[in-house]
Amino acid sequence: MGTGRARQREKSTVTDNGIHIRWMIRRDMPEVMRAERASFEYSWTEDDFLRCLRQRNCIGMVVEQGDRIGGFMIYELHKTRLHLLNFAVHPSVRRTGLGKLMVGKLVYKMTSHRRQKITLAVRERNLAAQMFFRAHGFQATRMLQNYYEDSGEDAYQMELMAPPYDPFDGFGVIAPVNRIAQYEES
Ligand SMILES: CC(C)(COP(=O)(O)OP(=O)(O)OC[C@H]1O[C@@H](n2cnc3c(N)ncnc32)[C@H](O)[C@@H]1OP(=O)(O)O)[C@@H](O)C(=O)NCCC(=O)NCCS
Repeated sequence: MGTGRARQREKSTVTDNGIHIRWMIRRDMPEVMRAERASFEYSWTEDDFLRCLRQRNCIGMVVEQGDRIGGFMIYELHKTRLHLLNFAVHPSVRRTGLGKLMVGKLVYKMTSHRRQKITLAVRERNLAAQMFFRAHGFQATRMLQNYYEDSGEDAYQMELMAPPYDPFDGFGVIAPVNRIAQYEES
C-alpha cells in the first residue's frame, strides 16, 4: 500500500489545458444529471447513481474544465477487470477529447493495478459510442440479447485487453504512468 502523498496524487489527473479528472462528489450531481439526461434516452436517475456509488467496488469520476463538469464515468472494480457502467460527455463539449481523456484514465487504472481488461455493454443502436470505443482499441466480443429491461434492446459486449506486462518495462505504452507512484502503490 502506498503513502498518503502517492495516493493523493493518483486521485486526480490535470492536463496542460486545465482539464481535470477527479473523483465524483455529491455536489457534482446536478451537472452529472444534466450530462446524463442530455446523453441517454433511458437515463439513470439520481437514485441510480447514489445506489451504485454506495457499493464498495463502484467508482465515479468526473472530467472538469474550469468549474464546469464536461462528463463523467462510473465503473466497478473487479479482481481481474474494470467494468464500465456509465460514461458520457455533455453534447456541448463532445469531440473535444474529454471522452478520450477518461478512457486514458481507465486504462491507467487497469494497467497500474495489473487488471487484465476493461469491459462494457453498449446498445446495439448506439453507433457513436461503438465507434468511440473502437477508436480506442475496444473490440466487440459478444452479443447480449434482450440486455436492457427498458427497451429490450440487444447490446454488444466490448472489451479492451491490457497490453502484455513486461517486468522490466511495465506496460510500456499507456499514458500517464508515473513509475514512482506505481511502485509506491504496489
Ligand atoms: C461516446 C462519447 C462518450 C464520446 O465522447 P467525446 O468526448 O465526444 O469523444 P472524444 O472527443 O474523446 O473522441 C475521440 C475519438 O473517438 C471517436 N469518436 C468520438 N465520437 C464519435 C462519433 N460520434 N462517431 C464516430 N467516432 C467518434 C473519434 O475517433 C474521435 O476522434 P476525433 O474527434 O479526432 O475524430 C459521447 O459521444 C457521448 O457522451 N455519447 C452519449 C453517451 C454514450 O453513448 N455513452 C456510452 C455508453 S456505452
